[in-house]
Amino acid sequence: MRKITIAIDGYSSTGKSTVARQLANWLDYVYVDSGAMYRAVTLYAMRNGFISETHIDTDKLINALPNIRVEFRKNKGGKAEMYLNGENVEKAIRSMEVSEYVSPIATIPEVRRKLVRLQHKMGEEKGVVMDGRDIGTVVFPNAELKIFMTATAEERAGRRYRELVARGDSVQYEEVLENVTERDHMDSTRADSPLKKALDAIEIDNSDMNLEDQFHIILQLAKDRIAGRI
Ligand code: CDP
Repeated sequence: MRKITIAIDGYSSTGKSTVARQLANWLDYVYVDSGAMYRAVTLYAMRNGFISETHIDTDKLINALPNIRVEFRKNKGGKAEMYLNGENVEKAIRSMEVSEYVSPIATIPEVRRKLVRLQHKMGEEKGVVMDGRDIGTVVFPNAELKIFMTATAEERAGRRYRELVARGDSVQYEEVLENVTERDHMDSTRADSPLKKALDAIEIDNSDMNLEDQFHIILQLAKDRIAGRI
């Protein structure tokens, strides 16, 4: 059966990763969480003192880029996890602190260039589901299926808040809502590769959709594309 490229973009916490992972499992495709790569670079910058409350030392980060190795490795259950210079950072990159700094880091063109190069490599043989902000517009503009996911900011913040509480983080709902809104704004207005719906993307608002319905809708679209029906 022919393999295709599936690009899933959208606002923060819209459940892109969940549906992308489900699709990749079902189709036996590779799943790439491009956001995890931006988060790992952000964690590196935080740990190396390139970020303070008021300032990001962009030059230092750009100079350090050759020393930053980000890669996915599968855990025992077969789930891909993020490694930064050989260390498993899957949990660390999902913290609120990383979420606070990741969007400014993702505006830096040199960072994007490095990560997009890796993303191209991961998807060169097709059979890939990649989620992010610029996958259908910049990384894989020729993807056979492009999905653009949206939901209300309150619904998305609620989902992310429950996720963070479930993993034991102490956060306030208001703080999460503010982060989600700020990141959306910064991601959509940056000069390099802003978040926007590709002209040929299918928009899915999942504010009132359960995970199963959402998966079946997108799986059907993927099956149609694979079969060349649309
Ligand atoms: O999980 P969530 O939707 O909150 O975010 P994520 O997918 O982990 O992405 C974290 C951040 O990385 C985003 O807010 C963007 O600033 C950046 N990002 C990006 O610029 N381009 C991508 N392809 C993926 C993420």
